[in-house]
Amino acid sequence: MPEATAHQLDLDLEQDLALDFIRVVEDAAIASARTMGQGDPPKSDQVAVQAMRRAFEHVPIDGTIVIGEGERDKAPMLYIGEQVGAKAPEGVAYPKVDIAVDPLEGTNLCATGASNSIAVLAASEPGGLLHAPDCYMEKIIAGPACRGALDLDAPVSENLRSIAACLEREVGDLTIVVLDRPRHADLIAQIRAAGARIRLINDGDLSAGIAAAIRGVGVDAVMGSGGAPEGVITAAALRCLHGEMLARLIVNTPELEERVASMGIRDPKRIYTARDLAPGKKIIFAACGITQGALLQGVRFFGDGSRTQSLVMTRSTNKVRFVDAIHLMRPPGPRGVRLY
Ligand code: FBP
Repeated sequence: MPEATAHQLDLDLEQDLALDFIRVVEDAAIASARTMGQGDPPKSDQVAVQAMRRAFEHVPIDGTIVIGEGERDKAPMLYIGEQVGAKAPEGVAYPKVDIAVDPLEGTNLCATGASNSIAVLAASEPGGLLHAPDCYMEKIIAGPACRGALDLDAPVSENLRSIAACLEREVGDLTIVVLDRPRHADLIAQIRAAGARIRLINDGDLSAGIAAAIRGVGVDAVMGSGGAPEGVITAAALRCLHGEMLARLIVNTPELEERVASMGIRDPKRIYTARDLAPGKKIIFAACGITQGALLQGVRFFGDGSRTQSLVMTRSTNKVRFVDAIHLMRPPGPRGVRLY
């Protein structure tokens, strides 16, 4: 007798699951926002991870975490390779989905109450997100106008001239975001010498990367090195926004070389585009603001509940949605729903 196969539930990743993924990032954001400014980064991170993990239990997917809290450090939840999603009813199979998560991007930002921390995830069909090692990555990120105009190996001044030309501005009009790190001293000096303006950030090159692909947020490009996992999630967002990104892993120790090879990456010096990092045909990107940010408002609490702002984008259906949500903890009082 042939074995009975489970009925594959015909859910479209982008059309049918976007709202579920918004709920996942909202829950992580609300949980970590409660710890804002408490000066306890591990706690902020832990509550975000726990809330996100719980929220996944209600999403009808057969999900695999491909970018998460790390497999080697034996993170208890949302580790790479962990299966997430609701339990399917007997005889039903939920769609297989690869998921990259950063439950709290900008841990220190949240712990100090600084701007721009977000809860974020990207999802695609299996194989649609690069399994990147937890190392640094050189990145240059800009908006759709700059597609095909950047070169990771070109002098900084040349890339700045290209960005300015694509945006029909002068180099002196540009705002370039750079993580404020000693390793970027030379990059910062070169940007200054070229005459562009710089916004140094303490953390959070992922939300800065998204901002670079959205006009009117005041970021023209992001340059420098940051986390490779954040790079893959940024690439997923840029695929939805048609932005430009070039990136290269920084593999500078024998241990990392081994790790990269074991992950099936044959050329550690390869220059990746956003499409290489997030090749999925179907991609969902969802982020929810934790602390107040340039792109997303932070979580606001008002006694009866909280209010969040999220961004959800889908690649093949070309949707970019900002979702404002009020989460009531109890039925509204006699004066009705409060907005803040
Ligand atoms: P976490 O939220 O995981 O701490 O990451 C914050 C971040 O600033 C990322 O946005 C960035 O890619 C990375 O850390 C940079 O790493 P480092 O702090 O080691 O320079």
